Amino acid sequence: MFRQSKWPKSLIFEKSTPGRQGFIGPELHPDEKNILEKAKKTIPENLLREESPSLPEVTELEVVRHFTRLSQMNYGVDSGFYPLGSCTMKYNPKVCDTAASLANAQNIHPYQPEDTVQGSLKIMYELACWLGELSGMSGVTLQPAAGAHGEYTGLMILRKYHETRQNLETKNEIIVPDSAHGTNPATVSMCGFKTIVIPSNDDGCVNIDALKASVTENTAGMMLTNPNTLGIFEPNIKEITNIIHEVDGLMYYDGANFNAIMGKVRPGDMGFDIVHFNLHKTFATPHGGGGPGAGPVGVISRLIPYLPVPTVSYSPSEKSYYFNYSHEHTIGKIRSYFGNFSTLLRAYTYILRLGQTGLTRVSEMANLNANYMKTQCTKINGFSVPYGELSSCMHEFVLSAKKLFKETEISALDISKYLLDTGLHPPTVYFPLIVPEALMIEPTETEPKEVIDTFIEALKKVSELAYSGRTEKILGAPNSTSVGRIDDVKAAREPIISYRMLKNM
Ligand SMILES: Cc1ncc(COP(=O)(O)O)c(C=O)c1O
Repeated sequence: MFRQSKWPKSLIFEKSTPGRQGFIGPELHPDEKNILEKAKKTIPENLLREESPSLPEVTELEVVRHFTRLSQMNYGVDSGFYPLGSCTMKYNPKVCDTAASLANAQNIHPYQPEDTVQGSLKIMYELACWLGELSGMSGVTLQPAAGAHGEYTGLMILRKYHETRQNLETKNEIIVPDSAHGTNPATVSMCGFKTIVIPSNDDGCVNIDALKASVTENTAGMMLTNPNTLGIFEPNIKEITNIIHEVDGLMYYDGANFNAIMGKVRPGDMGFDIVHFNLHKTFATPHGGGGPGAGPVGVISRLIPYLPVPTVSYSPSEKSYYFNYSHEHTIGKIRSYFGNFSTLLRAYTYILRLGQTGLTRVSEMANLNANYMKTQCTKINGFSVPYGELSSCMHEFVLSAKKLFKETEISALDISKYLLDTGLHPPTVYFPLIVPEALMIEPTETEPKEVIDTFIEALKKVSELAYSGRTEKILGAPNSTSVGRIDDVKAAREPIISYRMLKNM
């Protein structure tokens, strides 16, 4: 039976004993001492710290035990199945980490002269070219640090495009379908536009009549993910992009679901003008918990002058790579330095390792696994797929436990807690909002059939327990995790996110 470790919940600060040391650094060289003294003099007096920072005083062994125990209380893709729909929690091949931890990649500084980092610039240049090729875009910036940051970058490009054409006064609305990820409307507001939400049709796709009714001369563009958040490929995508282009709007492709289409179809060919990629999803770099990500943005050739600076270019005459600051209408810089280089390097390794055939196979397997799961899950009493039940899905699908809830009062939340006790990470729940008691499932291409079957069996068990009235195991779950059922509302409304906050309670 699955059981997570439970260790005393003391913080490393609470383990501190005055005088204990885990590491004794080497004596500073006199030159280093001089540099330090000089540097100190440049710090304004009011910013100089009087006391040493309050750090835990622990031995190396205590540090190792503390973090080993924490890792045993954790759950990740390396521990088990993690079908978190839309978040693409797939296995990240270790070779990508190996590449990112090579000394050549670790020991460089963003301020180094270009001629000393030609290899790194080449990697960035080639990665941008490959992403452009995969998406049908002509120029790519690697700067954005996450998907949502890519959305922000993309919409600022869109904004500047209308501004330079003196159209911004009228072009102030962005259309977003009701199934969109929450970051889409949030980005629209952040970039100073009004969100126009359009309903989905009965198949979960864009309702063309509603779209036509919403498009006016105020339409600055539309944000869409394809396949959409329900895991369904928009069959009318060409018509949608034409409708928006007819009013000089731009089409934004939310590339969080890019792992469904690699090597098969390209957003550029569908008529999109701006695309973001979630490297930390599609191109297998670890993510979650606020870890580093990367959300490069690709654009069609007309929008290259608007890209953030610098991009990386190659000079055939000099035979060298360089930072290119000459983008006429650039939106400026959107991140310090040049992006999350180690994440870029992982994605580069991943693409290089798989090649075009491998990437195409990734999407095929992601879609195959999702379709197998969908077919099996819809057979379970209490569950249905409200959108696209009879057609095939792409890399994910949204299951509804509405019937189960109505007939047994076992909700999507209860199911997710029960799954934890079986050693499986639950899917995304209650999203998208248009599906009642939603369980959004994305198995990913990296899982073998027997793991997927374990999940299907666990759902069958839920149904069996719920319909036979034996619900204690479900309602009492999780019992085998290091943390039991938490008060979700309190956690969201009154989060305690720092040691200082905890101490002040
Ligand atoms: C469809 C979609 N768009 C955008 C995002 C935002 O990406 P990130 O979490 O990297 O900011 C996500 C993340 O889950 C997503 O699923």
